[in-house]
Amino acid sequence: MEVSKIASSLQFSPIRRFNPIAAEAAKSGVKVYKLNIGQPDVKTPDVFLDKIKNFDESVIAYQESQGDSALREAISKYFKNEFSVNFKPDEIITTMGGSEAITIMFACILNPDDEVLMPEPYYTNYSTFISTSGGKIKPVTTGPDDGYNYAKEELLEDAISDKTKAICIINPNNPTGYVLSEDEMEFIADFAIKHDLWIIADEVYREFVYDGKKAMTFASIERIKDRLIVIDSVSKRYSACGARVGFIASHNEEFMQSVLKFCQGRLCIPTIDQVGATALFELPHSYYEEARDEYEARRDAAYEEISQIPDVVCVKPKGAFYLSAELPVDDAEDFLMFMLKEFRDNNETTMFAPCAGFYASEGKGKKEIRLAYVLNPKDMKRACELIKLGIAEYNSK
Ligand SMILES: Cc1ncc(COP(=O)(O)O)c(C=O)c1O
Repeated sequence: MEVSKIASSLQFSPIRRFNPIAAEAAKSGVKVYKLNIGQPDVKTPDVFLDKIKNFDESVIAYQESQGDSALREAISKYFKNEFSVNFKPDEIITTMGGSEAITIMFACILNPDDEVLMPEPYYTNYSTFISTSGGKIKPVTTGPDDGYNYAKEELLEDAISDKTKAICIINPNNPTGYVLSEDEMEFIADFAIKHDLWIIADEVYREFVYDGKKAMTFASIERIKDRLIVIDSVSKRYSACGARVGFIASHNEEFMQSVLKFCQGRLCIPTIDQVGATALFELPHSYYEEARDEYEARRDAAYEEISQIPDVVCVKPKGAFYLSAELPVDDAEDFLMFMLKEFRDNNETTMFAPCAGFYASEGKGKKEIRLAYVLNPKDMKRACELIKLGIAEYNSK
């Protein structure tokens, strides 16, 4: 007996696969600052649990496959109030986090060997999401030297083939923190129209944009209405990663009917979590400003420390809560193992994600790491200091 070719081709997540080694260190009493995973320490708004505590049905029944109608109504209002965008509730289907939204979305648009343009580095799990539907990633390579900017005609035109089906934009970006300007969004829209592509806009970090920039959505661009698929989630915006509530929004009816077929196959997502999530989408605008300010302070703390380390190449993130940096080491994964197994300062160490798995191109990203600035500014500073001390000790070995 053997497992499928697709299953054996998949990678273990470079964000999660080092967790057991970090757990060993923690068990032996070492404090490990975890910058590997996008799990913020920010409090989930009280309204989430308050709403659940008031749930008074005597049976936890299945929900509709397309999602709780109150939640879809709340999401529809959120788009209207925050972005003047009209997504009707029946143009929204809730999913088990953004992750299931992405998996189902690709199953709905890709045939075997179809290609998806992905600016790299990209959120590593896209490799798994696309492979499971038999599709292929066509990487559009960026790096720290060009500020991780992929919105360039030549770069994108070079990647187009007769198999290209979609362009996938994570904006604000994980892992680089790159944020498209309004003009760049318009350019991507025109590019997709020119080549008749789906536009997948993964906007799970939509509100996390810094330096006075305004949060934007591709859904504001009228002329791409029929080809736009928005991927979203409560995980990051509301610091509710364990709620496992995300959604797909699109005006394309045929696409949404296809999504619904997959969703009916998996029945529904958790009834109770959808009740709590409804209250999150009803939060006032000030919530988004406060959350953004908190992450901007963390970004500043992380960037200030990391950019001072000699020979580190690092671009100041414009959004999301990640920072990619090229380190003066030959192999970031080996350096991570050293940090977890050998390096200690005051019995503390830190953990991050090596970036090679965030690239589809062989050999890229070997010296790069991704830091999630999800800890409070004081802990962020300390974690970055540990990286600095670790590099010095590692390179003197
Ligand atoms: C860009 C991006 N999209 C989607 C997800 C999926 O998140 P979730 O399944 O928790 O909604 C993540 C998680 O880190 C992400 O970074």
